[in-house]
Amino acid sequence: MKRNLLKYIVSASITAATVCSLAQSPIELPTMGWSSWNTYRVDISDSLIIRQADAMANLGLKEAGYTYINIDDGYFGGRDTLTGRLKIHPTRFPGGLKTVVDHIHSLGLKAGIYSDAGANTCGSWYDKDSIAVGVGLYGHEQQDCNMFFNELGFDFIKVDFCGGRSQSNATRLGLDPRERYTAIHEAILNTGRKDVRLNVCRWDYPGTWVAEVASSWRMSRDISCRWDVVKLIIEQNLYLSAYAGNGHYNDMDMLEVGRTLTAEEDRTHFAIWCMMASPLLIGCDMTTLDDQTLALLTNRNLIAIDQDTLGLQAYVVKHDPNAGGSYVLVKDLVERNGLTRAVALYNPSDAEKTISITCEELEMGGVVEAEDLFEEHSRNVMLSNGLLSSNVPAHGTKVFRLTATQRLPRVRYEAETAYLTCYQELCNPYSVGTAYYEKDSLASGGMIAANLGGRALNDLQWRNVWCQADGEYKVVIRCATFSDGAALLVSANSGIGQRFTAEQAKDGFVTLKLRLRKGRNTVRLYNDCGPMPDIDYMNIRS
Ligand code: GLA
Repeated sequence: MKRNLLKYIVSASITAATVCSLAQSPIELPTMGWSSWNTYRVDISDSLIIRQADAMANLGLKEAGYTYINIDDGYFGGRDTLTGRLKIHPTRFPGGLKTVVDHIHSLGLKAGIYSDAGANTCGSWYDKDSIAVGVGLYGHEQQDCNMFFNELGFDFIKVDFCGGRSQSNATRLGLDPRERYTAIHEAILNTGRKDVRLNVCRWDYPGTWVAEVASSWRMSRDISCRWDVVKLIIEQNLYLSAYAGNGHYNDMDMLEVGRTLTAEEDRTHFAIWCMMASPLLIGCDMTTLDDQTLALLTNRNLIAIDQDTLGLQAYVVKHDPNAGGSYVLVKDLVERNGLTRAVALYNPSDAEKTISITCEELEMGGVVEAEDLFEEHSRNVMLSNGLLSSNVPAHGTKVFRLTATQRLPRVRYEAETAYLTCYQELCNPYSVGTAYYEKDSLASGGMIAANLGGRALNDLQWRNVWCQADGEYKVVIRCATFSDGAALLVSANSGIGQRFTAEQAKDGFVTLKLRLRKGRNTVRLYNDCGPMPDIDYMNIRS
């Protein structure tokens, strides 16, 4: 591996690298395991699944935190025409699923299964697996859930949507995702099992309702083993950090690590999935892992970033179009607004770039130390000039664990890191009147939030505005556009909003004072009964 080019001076009193260990958390952490789809598609069998489970248990993957062995599409064998009972594929799983689940459990692992919210699965459509017509959960929610979770003992289910989308199923059913996934969530609860994890597979961020029903949800189309696809999924997840939290996660799809990406791309793929607290589902054949892949998949420091007990997804703190369109991502570790943060320098471009960010931008003050999480025997290095700077190869990523003696207050809150209550990616936001994030080259960070207002729920919230003391704070909000007739109301916590019109916003800047409390606050921008300006950012100072 290339020498760490981080600019540093090594202090005499340096501490040895800390290998982060997996800690107990009061919330559910991102699912870690393996899934059959990426390598085998519908061509699966009982012996194949058992070999993969054995490999997970024997190669140290289980010790690293991987737990779930997930059977994806391909196990279906139709339905009994009289009873409606789901049948299992007669040649792929001649002995049924129970012995496979029991074997997985006997290894101290958990078992996952797959179905569809409609009547047919994706495999019946795209892989022409005709035996999987009519096997989805539609009309069989309780019957199938009882079988999966009570009889067979599965612990996880991924629920697809080909059968619910008229373009991708023979019955041309067009179903409402929210209604379907809510019904399935309830059917799971009705089994009496409270520990089953539901993964929603609707291929775009479905809407904020999803956190009420699922542990995780896909936010992109299917991954494939190509750099441009991995890069696109990362791009699509950059501004969804506000929707991950409290034990619910954006799912960037199963890992392609260990297949045909370059070593650098594999490292970026794994590192960014960890920074973004995505589920980590290995997608390659675990029985033939090479040493390099095994080392990456079991990198304990990176896994600790994914499995950090706060369950946060990193957000973009800097985007630099002049450094190959690079991104700096950051998230708190262990304690919100504490003294430890994870930072990733991500270079999506095709040439090496130097990526730099000041400690101040990272809100780290006093003595700041950085540990390169890819350097196995890396030691903490002190940042000499208040700058974290590193040469990052094409398609590469560096990840650091930063510790500081002082946490600096955050001044800038970008709109693209805020929670938009009506945000969704399934319907055209203009037609349904929901807010969205949009590129704007003149905006700070290159992004704004647009199409806000018109009703109470279509608001913007910064839910983690952290203050060091109770008091009155000076707030400046930059509006990207503020048309006549629009209005902006700004409230703190549950207070009533202060109202501003376009005339009161000088050059697009709204200036006000807000009373905030020590610790965590929510600042809300809204307009119940008319349009709002597009929002670029909020600055906040004591
Ligand atoms: C969809 C999903 C994939 C996989 C296949 C199975 O395409 O997005 O992850 O489960 O269906 O057919």
